[in-house]
Amino acid sequence: MVRKVEFWVLALTGTLLFTGCSKEQQPGLEDPEEVRLPSLPETPYPYSEQGFPESWQNDPGLALFGGTGDLAGITDAGATLGRVLFHDTQLSADNTVSCGSCHQQEHAFADPAVGSLGITSTPLHRNTPGLFNFRYQRRLFWDLRVLGLENQVLQPIGHPDEMGMELAALPDKLASLPYYPALFEAAFGDPEVNLERITEGLVQFLRSIRSFRSRYDAGLANDFADFTADELLGKEVFFRGDTRCNQCHTSRNFFSNQAFINGLELDYAAAGDGGIGDLTGAASDDGRFKTASLRNIGLTAPYMHDGRFSTLREVVDFYSDNIVQHPYLDERLSDNGIGPPGQEPYQLELSELEREGLVAFLHTLSDTVIIADPALSSPF
Ligand code: HEC
Ligand code: HEC
Repeated sequence: MVRKVEFWVLALTGTLLFTGCSKEQQPGLEDPEEVRLPSLPETPYPYSEQGFPESWQNDPGLALFGGTGDLAGITDAGATLGRVLFHDTQLSADNTVSCGSCHQQEHAFADPAVGSLGITSTPLHRNTPGLFNFRYQRRLFWDLRVLGLENQVLQPIGHPDEMGMELAALPDKLASLPYYPALFEAAFGDPEVNLERITEGLVQFLRSIRSFRSRYDAGLANDFADFTADELLGKEVFFRGDTRCNQCHTSRNFFSNQAFINGLELDYAAAGDGGIGDLTGAASDDGRFKTASLRNIGLTAPYMHDGRFSTLREVVDFYSDNIVQHPYLDERLSDNGIGPPGQEPYQLELSELEREGLVAFLHTLSDTVIIADPALSSPF
């Protein structure tokens, strides 16, 4: 009881302080001190009933990656809380940045900027990845440094260049907002706000972002009857033995839980980001990065850990002509495809038609459902 009074005093002091400044002189500007209310459906969206389809659950390729935490633990109220938290700028120190500022729904929760901007003017040095299909991902970030979403979701909130919020102060801040106590109560049975519950809500929401409805998926079901000649050619090139795209971007999720060196640099550490090599100090890890899923790749430009390529055509040209001979270049990117790493890179010399086909094929992996699903959109 006593604690609650303190929150309101704090909140009030904040408002008074701000009113004393420039609020009235700039009526057109969005006001970070103004509390916006989320608009939520009366009956929550049925997050708890929307698991992966059977074709995914029975996929032998995906079975290799396990399948943690799909529906387990997801409740409609828990994911609803997570949706609000994910899109709420109040989770940042100055109320200007939400998870969704960088992870934008229309881009499959990636950011079209090379380096996203958080609350400071320092752009992040890695490109913001799309967010989906976490059932199959245990390790997170481009260098796979974090195990489990539970250990990840608070990090951007506390990061000085992302949301810059002092984590210890977050529960009190949220509890003082008019809409959170009821959301926490619906999710957990009582209105207490704490970091474990914030984590749990965000994790439930992230696990609810499942992407399995692309033109490619429709093609799997109807033998690609609706694919254009370009797309069919691109599909063939992607799965062909010489390109080996599908040997790293594997399964119907087009990804791997392993990290590989795909030959962007001779010396990644010298170029500014050694990836896993910066964590282990091993030369054989220099430039080893997560094998990003190619699902939704047509929506998540720019590309690679540093966003160096702005179009898929640039990516395809890179793999065809410009892979660098790194001392530990993955063997799949050299002619024989086996043997020790660090061989001379292959020269695919793809034709113009093959390049355009590959780009067209990659676009068939875009999911037009998740980018418009109101259950995943901002409620503010
Ligand atoms: C200022 C931009 C920014 C904000 C805000 C932000 N992120 Fe991110 N996010 C990134 C970047 C950049 C990465 C990649 C960092 C890396 O790999 O080192 C990332 C990575 C992630 C990943 C790992 C994805 C993967 O495939 O490995 C998850 C999950 C994630 N963010 C969730 C969140 C959540 C939840 C929030 C809000 C609490 C949030 N992010 C806020 C920029 C942002
Ligand atoms: C040896 C394994 C390997 C092979 C083979 C491979 N890739 Fe990749 N791919 C990766 C890795 C690892 C990354 C991330 C590298 C980075 O960001 O530094 C990546 C990144 C990408 C990206 C950008 C992903 C993003 O979210 O930014 C695209 C697109 C891509 N690959 C397409 C292809 C295509 C097309 C082929 C076949 C011509 C191919 N890859 C072959 C391992 C591979």
